Amino acid sequence: MLAHKDLLNLTGKTAIVTGGAKGIGYGISYRLAEAGANVLIADMDEATAQKSAEELVAKGWSAKSLKVDVSLEADIKNMISTAVSSFGSIDILVNNAGIYPNQPIAVMETADFEKVLHVNLLSVFMTTKHASEIMKKKGGGKIINVTSIDALHPSMVGLAHYDSSKHGLWGFTKNAALELSKDNITVNAVAPGGIATPGASAGSGSLSAEQMKAAIAAFLAKIPMHRMGESDEIGKVVLFLASDMASYMTGSQIVADGGALLS
Ligand SMILES: NC(=O)c1ccc[n+]([C@@H]2O[C@H](COP(=O)([O-])OP(=O)(O)OC[C@H]3O[C@@H](n4cnc5c(N)ncnc54)[C@H](O)[C@@H]3O)[C@@H](O)[C@H]2O)c1
Repeated sequence: MLAHKDLLNLTGKTAIVTGGAKGIGYGISYRLAEAGANVLIADMDEATAQKSAEELVAKGWSAKSLKVDVSLEADIKNMISTAVSSFGSIDILVNNAGIYPNQPIAVMETADFEKVLHVNLLSVFMTTKHASEIMKKKGGGKIINVTSIDALHPSMVGLAHYDSSKHGLWGFTKNAALELSKDNITVNAVAPGGIATPGASAGSGSLSAEQMKAAIAAFLAKIPMHRMGESDEIGKVVLFLASDMASYMTGSQIVADGGALLS
């Protein structure tokens, strides 16, 4: 049995965080690096990923950045081999990269729907397939998927493709947990509610920044805790799932939403 002080210690572990350059992904990268993990920030925004990794290294922690588009299998294979060549193995995979362009069905094109499914769901099949091969050789690992309350209940109009991808990701999480438990690999999810991030405050899809602000204000009014969440509040849940604290958990989804699903 681990001592209390060691329960959240990730020293010597290697973690990949997709979309780790900013927003929720950076909150996750920060907490995992602080806990002692070597963190590979894998993000298509190369400049921000590099800056974020430098911030973590400046604190005396271990981090590196890599330009990765998670919708491309070649980039994913390169991400896996970079983690192994830089840090020796992969113990923790956090599938966080995701997009949520607001597009009502009336204006949504087939290509829009496909893009959201590709980035939010198909990518996780590809990262899980390739990372789990490495984890099996190591004797185990932890995979954590960032879903959304939209994996359970729609938050607003205009996200039919997004809600399909996140419901799908929750289904994938459970089946992957079932398949990989024999290899000592756990697969869990965290479902954030409204979190204040660059993506959530920018205009998206058919909504301008002003319209997005109004949509968020309407959503905020329904949150029992009366505030948006911080990226760190998802980072802390991921740290829990990545640590020995969650040793008997697989196929679970933790909702962190300030009570939003209650309203
Ligand atoms: N912010 C919220 O309120 C909220 C709520 C529920 C779930 N989520 C989920 O949390 C995750 C992160 O959201 P966020 O709000 O921090 O977003 P964000 O837009 O603020 O940051 C996302 C990061 O992912 C990167 N990214 C996007 N597409 C990528 C791709 N194809 N390949 C690699 N990197 C890519 C971006 O460059 C960016 O650094 C997403 O999966 C999102 O669905 C967010």
